[in-house]
Parts: sequence; structure tokens; C-alpha cells
Amino acid sequence: MKDAGKLGNAPTGAGKVAVVTGASAGIGLVIARTLARQGWRVIALGRNPVRSEAALAAIRTAAPDAKVDMIVADLAVMAEAVRAAREVAGLTERIDVLVNNAGGTPAKRIETPDGYEATFAGNHLGPFLLTNHLLPQLRAAAPGARIVNVSSMAHNFVRGMAWDDLQAKRKFSINAVYGQSKLANILFTRELARRLAADGIVVNAMHPGIVASGFASHGPFYLPFVYWLMRPLSLTPEQGADTALWLATAAEAGSVSGGYFVKRRPGKLSAAARDDEAARRLWGETEALIERSGA
Ligand SMILES: NC(=O)c1ccc[n+]([C@@H]2O[C@H](COP(=O)([O-])OP(=O)(O)OC[C@H]3O[C@@H](n4cnc5c(N)ncnc54)[C@H](OP(=O)(O)O)[C@@H]3O)[C@@H](O)[C@H]2O)c1
Repeated sequence: MKDAGKLGNAPTGAGKVAVVTGASAGIGLVIARTLARQGWRVIALGRNPVRSEAALAAIRTAAPDAKVDMIVADLAVMAEAVRAAREVAGLTERIDVLVNNAGGTPAKRIETPDGYEATFAGNHLGPFLLTNHLLPQLRAAAPGARIVNVSSMAHNFVRGMAWDDLQAKRKFSINAVYGQSKLANILFTRELARRLAADGIVVNAMHPGIVASGFASHGPFYLPFVYWLMRPLSLTPEQGADTALWLATAAEAGSVSGGYFVKRRPGKLSAAARDDEAARRLWGETEALIERSGA
């Protein structure tokens, strides 16, 4: 596997604009930094103000000539996702690439101010809302605009969406909640790709691998230990970013839409992730949930 962080210095992104969520740490920071080094104008999004500020400084140091901004927002809160979209729109009229990378696994069940389970809200509802709000800017860069959704092989943790308990109120399990949110990323990708097929915007999902990032530190108490044990097998954030960067920038990835990639190749999807009826249903359920939040 190529190291995207080391490869990413060619000035291929001149005049192009990328929006990268989850850019305050881990895989997203590498994606934002690499694109900035390649000459992209980067609008990064983070959640934690301190990490976001440090990440912005690190990107600017790595790419002193690049134009880089950082927006701080918790995408699990619908009003924050809308505010973030407005701030992005205030900075650019076009978006060539949107990388929906922000996400994480829960340590316990937390409810957001909108009344949603926080992992489902942050990993799916917020990115859905942000993406839909940014479609005018993506259309302004079409044909050729791209959306990359960072999902996971963890979509296999569930056999399908828990339609009667999407907020895990009746039954909460860390693996099921995370797995469902990553399944939602894939179903969203497929339905969005179908809806945007005529617009010249391609949409793909990917799994980054098991990556030694900040991911485990947000999960249950035992997860850092599990990730420590898996260290010999795990990837660096640079390696984990490779497929997302490839989907975002490679010529050969520009004509595929609705796909799911692992190590730059089509990945194996569960039956639930191939269910296009579920993808349509999720779209409708998501719109209804967001409408209920008033965002
Ligand atoms: N690491 C792995 O093994 C692995 C495997 C498969 C998939 N993934 C996926 O890869 C993506 C990136 O994760 P990572 O490994 O780079 O983890 P990380 O180092 O913890 O970075 C996660 C990033 O997402 C941001 N974020 C999380 N929840 C957010 C929310 N509600 N609103 C706004 N920003 C939020 C974090 O912001 P702050 O740091 O500012 O809070 C951080 O910038 C995630 O979608 C994850 O599900 C990771």
C-alpha cells in the first residue's frame, strides 16, 4: 500500500476546493494535510476546539502556501451541522471534493440535545444534513465533483438497520450502534449516488482498515487495549487515508459511483449494505428525523 502522506506533495489540486470533516485528528487530518500540500484550498472541520486549532496549525506548517480554514462543530447536533454548512458556504462557492470522514464509536449511550443517540447522529444524521446543505456548492464544481464517505467493515456487525429502534433506546450495544451507523454510511452513499447520477457528482464509501488513530480513545475502556494488541496489524493514519485520497483525487476513481472500496479495490459488502430498498427507506427516515429536530 502506498503511503498517501508521503506521496501527497504534487501540486495537483490548484484551484480546487476540498471540505474534510474529522480533520482535527487521525485519518481526516492526514487527508486535509495531504490535499493542502497538493495545492487544494482546504476547509477542514473538527469538533474539539483545542485539537482543531492544533490541527490547523499543523496543516499550515506542512503546507505554508495553502489556503486552509478550520470550522469547529459537533455534527451530532443538527443545528451545528447546519451552521457548519453555512460557514462552509460563506467561504466557497464551489466544492470539488467533500470527504465525510468524521465519526467514532461510543463508550456508552448518550443522547444529543435533539434526542438522538449520539453515534447515529454524529456518524450518520449530521453528515447527511451537511452533505445535503452543500449540494449547491458541489453542483457548482460538477461535472467532476466527488463525495467520499468514510465507512467501515464494521457495517458487518449488524444484519440490518434496527428500523423500530434507530436510537437504540430499547437495546444498546456499542458494536451494534457503531456498526449500524457505518451501515447507514454505505446505504446513504448508494442512495445519494443514485440521486446524483445525472448531476456529475460521484459518491463512494470506503473502509480505511484498522488504523492506529485517536479512534479507540473515544470508545469503551477496553478498546485502547484491543487496539494496542492489534498494533502489529494496524495501519498508520497515513495508510488509512490512502483509499479516501485515491477516491478523492485519482482520475480512475472519478467515473465510479455508489461503490465501497477497501485498499483502492471494491470491497465486500454485507447483504444489508447491498439492500437498495433499505437505502431508500433510510433516506426517508433520516429526512423525517432531521425535520423533527427543526434543523
Ligand atoms: N481507526 C480505525 O480503526 C477505523 C476503522 C474503520 C473506520 N474508521 C472511521 O474512520 C473515520 C475517522 O476516524 P479516525 O480513525 O481518524 O479517528 P479519530 O482519530 O478519533 O478522528 C475522528 C475525527 O472525527 C471527528 N469527530 C468525531 N465525531 C464527531 C462529531 N460528532 N462531530 C464532528 N466531528 C467529529 C473528531 O473530532 P475531535 O477529535 O475534534 O473530537 C476527529 O477529528 C471515522 O469515521 C471512523 O468511524 C476508523
